Amino acid sequence: MQSFDHKFSNPKRPHRTGQQIIVGRVEELPPGRGATITLPDNKELALYNVGGQFHAIENFCPHRGAPLAEGTLCGHTIECDWHGWRFDVRTGACLTNPTHAVEAYEVVIEDGWIKIVI
Ligand code: FES
Repeated sequence: MQSFDHKFSNPKRPHRTGQQIIVGRVEELPPGRGATITLPDNKELALYNVGGQFHAIENFCPHRGAPLAEGTLCGHTIECDWHGWRFDVRTGACLTNPTHAVEAYEVVIEDGWIKIVI
């Protein structure tokens, strides 16, 4: 049986600073889609538009490191394309293995600009 006890650490997780980073315009990410956000220091986040609400989480599946921005979005759930682990994009909670959550980041929309609080 496969063990899920190990954790892969995310080398591209942004350092928490409380800073708002402008990452794009709302019209650039249609509802039901996800995108990889590369930050100025080469860190990454996954950004999703769920029915006009934007959510950001780590772009790193803790199972084996797949980019979660490239997973399959269904409602508020992103399913990792590699082995099917599922995460709630609002909280980062792992629905497949609750001991392996990813970090979620606040998203602020102002005048059509998407800002992520890292
Ligand atoms: S890398 Fe295996 S489920 Fe994401």
